[in-house]
Amino acid sequence: MSVQPAHNLSLEEMDKQSFLHPYTPLKDHLDSGPTIVAAAKGVNITDTQGKEYIDAMAGLWCVNIGWGRDEVVEAIAEQAGKLAYYHSFASMANEASIRLADRLLRLLPDNMSKVFFGNSGSDANDTNVKLVWYYNNLRGKPEKKKIISRIRGYHGVTVAAASLTGIPMVHNAFDLPLAPMLHTEYPHYYINAEPGMSERDFSKWCAAKLEEMIVAEGPDTVGAFIAEPVMGAGGVVPPPQGYFQEIQAVLRKYDVLMIADEVITGFGRTGNWFACETYNIEPDIITLAKGLTSGYIPMSASVISGDIWQVLMNGTPEVGAFAHGYTYSAHPVAAAAAMANLDIMERENLPANSARMGTYFQNKLKQELADHPLVGDVRGVALVAGVELVADKAKKTPLDADLKVAPTLAKYCVEEGLISRALMQISALSFSPPLVINEGEVDEVVGRFRRALNRITDELVKAGTWKPQ
Ligand SMILES: Cc1ncc(COP(=O)(O)O)c(C=O)c1O
Repeated sequence: MSVQPAHNLSLEEMDKQSFLHPYTPLKDHLDSGPTIVAAAKGVNITDTQGKEYIDAMAGLWCVNIGWGRDEVVEAIAEQAGKLAYYHSFASMANEASIRLADRLLRLLPDNMSKVFFGNSGSDANDTNVKLVWYYNNLRGKPEKKKIISRIRGYHGVTVAAASLTGIPMVHNAFDLPLAPMLHTEYPHYYINAEPGMSERDFSKWCAAKLEEMIVAEGPDTVGAFIAEPVMGAGGVVPPPQGYFQEIQAVLRKYDVLMIADEVITGFGRTGNWFACETYNIEPDIITLAKGLTSGYIPMSASVISGDIWQVLMNGTPEVGAFAHGYTYSAHPVAAAAAMANLDIMERENLPANSARMGTYFQNKLKQELADHPLVGDVRGVALVAGVELVADKAKKTPLDADLKVAPTLAKYCVEEGLISRALMQISALSFSPPLVINEGEVDEVVGRFRRALNRITDELVKAGTWKPQ
C-alpha cells in the first residue's frame, strides 16, 4: 500500500471524496456537498461560511444544556488529564461512572436497580434486547424472546435496534427486521383514530391490538414491549390519553417486560426529568442517551429493575460471568461530562424551564400555525413539537410524497437561519431545541418557520401542485 501525497482540496471536496454520511441521500450529496458546522454557542450554530442558525433540534434532539458550557468542557479536560480511559470489565471501575450510576438511580423510578453504560442509544437498545433474552433464559423461559415495538417507533440503527425501529426506510435493503421483532399499531390519534373516536377509546383500541398480537403469537413467546414515551423520529407523537395505562395492563397480564426508550424524552425534554413521570410509565428497563451528556461526548445507559437484576445475579453461578460489554462502557471522560451536565441541569432546573418555555412554545406554534391551510396538526409536549403538513386539512389527506414538501420546507428553514427536521416517510417537521431556550429565541424559531412555510405555500400554489382547501 502506498502512502498518498497530501492534496490541496477544499474541505467540501475532501468531504465528498472521503466521507460516507449517515442518513444522507448519497448521490445528491455529491452535488450539494456538506454544510460544515464550525462553532456553536447557546442555541445557535455557525457554519464555515459564517452563517448563523438557531438549531431548534439541538443537534439530533440531544444538546439539552445548549452549546459552549465551559463547565462540561473543563470536566472533560480534567478527567482526561487524570484518567483518560479505563474499562469496567472484570470488576474494574472508575470513580466518575460509579458516581454517575448512583446519581441516575436517585433520579429514576424507585424500582430501578443497576445501570449498564454504553456509547449510543442504538447499542443501549441492543443491550436491552440481549438482556431480555438472557433474563428469560435464566428464568427458564427460553421461548419468551419476541419483542414488540410500534410502527414508526425509532430505536436506532444497529441490527437489533434497527429491527425494533418501525420505519420501512430503515429496513429496506438491509435485510431487516430480524424475525423476533414485531410491530404493533402506530398510536397517532390524529391519523389513525376512526372519526368520532375519543382519545381514551383510541388508547383502548391500541391496547386491544397489542393484546391481539400477543395472543396470536403466544404469550409464552413474547418477552418485551418497547416504546418511546413520546415518539420522536416517527412523527413526534405524544401518547394519546391513558395510552400507557391501557398498554401496561396488557403487558402485566402476559408477563411481558416494558422497556421505556427515553433516549429523546429523558433529561427534561417533556418538562420532568423523565417522561416515565410525565406519563405514569412503570418500566422494567429504561434506555438513556442523548441528554445524558447533552451530546458533548457519546454515552448511553440501559437501566434495569431490581427484579431483572435478581434473576441476572442468581444466574451467574450457572452461566458464568455476564458476557456483555463494550470497550468504552462506563468511559470515565463521558461519565465526567455527564456529571457536569447533570450539575447544570439541576442548578438551572432545566426540566422546569422545559415545562415553562414548552408551554410558551406549544402555544405560540398553535397560534401561528394551526390555521395555516397546509398544517394539519401541531402537537407536542414541553420542548418537543411536531408540525404535520397535509394536502387537505378537513379530510386530513396526506401530501403526495413526490412533492417533497417537508424536506423542501426544512431547506427553506435553513435559508431563514433555522434548523428543524423533516422526518422520514411522513410530511412532518420536528422541533426539539436546547432546554435553555428563552422566549425571544422561541419567537424567532416560530417566526422563521412561518416565513419558510409561507414561501413554500406560495410556490406550491404558483406551480399549481396544491391549492388551499
Ligand atoms: C428514541 C431513540 N432511541 C434510540 C435512538 C438511537 O440513538 P443513537 O443514534 O445514539 O444510536 C434514537 C436516536 O435518535 C432515538 O431517538
